[in-house]
Amino acid sequence: MEQTPEREGVIFTPLQVGATTLKNRILLSPHRQAYGEDNQPTERMIAYWVERAKGGVALVSGESTSVSRRLARASAESGPSGWRLTAWEERVIPAFARLADAVHAHDCRIFMEFSTFGVNQAAQSDFDDWHPPGGPSAVPSPGGTVIPQVMDQVSIDELVEDYGRSAANMQRAGIDGVEVHAAHGYLPMQFLSPAFNKRTDRYGGSPRRCAQLLVEIGEEIRRQVGSAYTVGMRFSFDEYIGSAGVTPELAEEYLDILAATGLYDFFSVSSGSYHSFHYAVPPMGTAPEAFLADYGRRAKAAVGGRAKIFLAGRILDLATAERVIADGAADMVSMVRAHIADPFLIRKSLEGREGEIVRCVGANECLATGFRGRRMHCVANPSTGREIYWGEGTLSQAKAPRRIAVVGAGPAGLKAAGVAAARGHSVTLFDENASVGGHLNLIKRLPTRGDWQTLINNLATAAKRGGVEERLGKSVAAADLASGGFDEIVCATGSRWDRTGFSGARPDRTGIPGAEAENVLDVAAAAARVLENPRSLGGKVVILDDCGAYLPLGLAEVLGSAGVDTEVLSRFAALGEALIATLELPWILPRLAAAGVRLSPNRFIEAIDGSRIEVYETWSRRPAVITGVDTVVLAMLRSPRDLLYKEILADGFARAHRIGDALAPRTVSDATYEGERLGREL
Ligand SMILES: Cc1cc2nc3c(=O)[nH]c(=O)nc-3n(C[C@H](O)[C@H](O)[C@H](O)COP(=O)(O)O)c2cc1C
Repeated sequence: MEQTPEREGVIFTPLQVGATTLKNRILLSPHRQAYGEDNQPTERMIAYWVERAKGGVALVSGESTSVSRRLARASAESGPSGWRLTAWEERVIPAFARLADAVHAHDCRIFMEFSTFGVNQAAQSDFDDWHPPGGPSAVPSPGGTVIPQVMDQVSIDELVEDYGRSAANMQRAGIDGVEVHAAHGYLPMQFLSPAFNKRTDRYGGSPRRCAQLLVEIGEEIRRQVGSAYTVGMRFSFDEYIGSAGVTPELAEEYLDILAATGLYDFFSVSSGSYHSFHYAVPPMGTAPEAFLADYGRRAKAAVGGRAKIFLAGRILDLATAERVIADGAADMVSMVRAHIADPFLIRKSLEGREGEIVRCVGANECLATGFRGRRMHCVANPSTGREIYWGEGTLSQAKAPRRIAVVGAGPAGLKAAGVAAARGHSVTLFDENASVGGHLNLIKRLPTRGDWQTLINNLATAAKRGGVEERLGKSVAAADLASGGFDEIVCATGSRWDRTGFSGARPDRTGIPGAEAENVLDVAAAAARVLENPRSLGGKVVILDDCGAYLPLGLAEVLGSAGVDTEVLSRFAALGEALIATLELPWILPRLAAAGVRLSPNRFIEAIDGSRIEVYETWSRRPAVITGVDTVVLAMLRSPRDLLYKEILADGFARAHRIGDALAPRTVSDATYEGERLGREL
């Protein structure tokens, strides 16, 4: 077992939560990794948690786990391998026991979160037993249109029983405690929320009656597991829809009612629901650090020592964690994304190696992958989810150190350089720009995007630590590289935005007629100009967003805020397609509206004729014209910048590699992943 160095501070004092003794005040609240298979924990999941346990957290709370007998089989459809865990089936006990044992071996405790979706459950969720979603009342999910079946006493009793049986299963597996998910708009919260609970029976009508389901769930769990087992609740302190939903005042009332029952040992305070998920996991540049601290303080006051309060919400470093606890805003703090990015954040801080911490950027790719039905990954830390082969201690020293040239200091090149150097290679990093970071240097200048600099810093400090030699501010030719005595050359030269207007949706043409005109710019060139002078593109700008990424909308925000008449077109039904799953869209859309930006989905450009643009509706092809346009900005495809790579190969140099956008333009996660992989292979 690792020895975590001692450090003064209230966060390093132990805490008793129910039957569980925790060695410090830092936990990881539940988060979906989708690493399960056959509805039970896997070696991948165990390795993920063990890495964080080794890093020094006192408690991890495993991902949202099904308790309902109805969902047990439904979860077989939850992905190609049934990643959604179930606690209801006894067959899963051995796998949970392996998980518990593995985490305990590193002096860390583990709880499991129990969730039921209620109205948010897709109808017909079990292929072999189709049924509608159930909810407290006939009110649909804000994310859907299916009117749920109103839960009758039989189905409520069945569900309560399922919670109890699932808790007993977890207890038998050696899991230290269970946490009822009554936050984020899941079924128990639907009973608490006036938006969903319109009942007039003993489960609705007053706060006490709306809390009745949670009382019954708590009682049944206690009946099954006894009093010497830890039971808690995840709880949203604000639904952010005013008195239509759970307000902070109502939350205080609920906490008072629930704490008085003595059933729950802790309340883990979060916020948001399906109406306001973007507050549950706020992306970069939105909610400030520890933004729920005031709610934590109020929760502690409401509970008044009858239970412990856990608090989450963009707590990124130990100093902030210490402040939250010292200020009386919580008994424990959760640092989820900070630990997805760096499992060893605590240990590094304690050893005075803060500079080595891989810091969370807030890109929310971790969350987006889940929404897209994929396994969780991290843009800043490609080892996340791949701990079995890329975890601590897996970076082997190079058998024969070689001289490696990496061309391009964007995320792919920086990552490859840092990893190869850490393995003992001698690495020289070239970039024609004077600073490292590649295209992130542009994006980071847009409103709210400043934390991309954090990613650059992560990668740059790792490269420096490995002794990477930087040659910046001058382009390097293939011939110079070939004669430079390098054993391997890595081309991470990125991509360029296409400005022909070619789209895969229009195979009948090679581009947009008229796109070659001077008043047509690609989105990167446009953003570079606008960030210097927001009115440099004239008084009326049309942006064609055919990529769904942040850049076109961020550019529109800068333009609109400067009073430029700005319209964004997209052939898709929604603008900013990629920003839905990262929860960025609900933050940027109000800002675009405030800036007067017009959004026109389902529109594509037929032709550009100077200041006149012919557009059409995507499917109907109904035409329209926009006139008086000063500049058209195309945010469409990107092409690899791979000329250098081809020249190197043509020169007869065989050991050349291409990674990141230079291979195929994709996301920053693809770039850091490929940098890591190549850095380990060289
Ligand atoms: C990838 C991901 C998945 C999450 N899934 C869950 C979940 O299943 N249940 C839950 O209660 N919270 C979930 N959360 C919310 C976290 O527990 C936490 O409250 C949130 O990330 C804010 O904390 P942070 O700023 O330290 O990341 C998830 C968060 C992330 C990043």
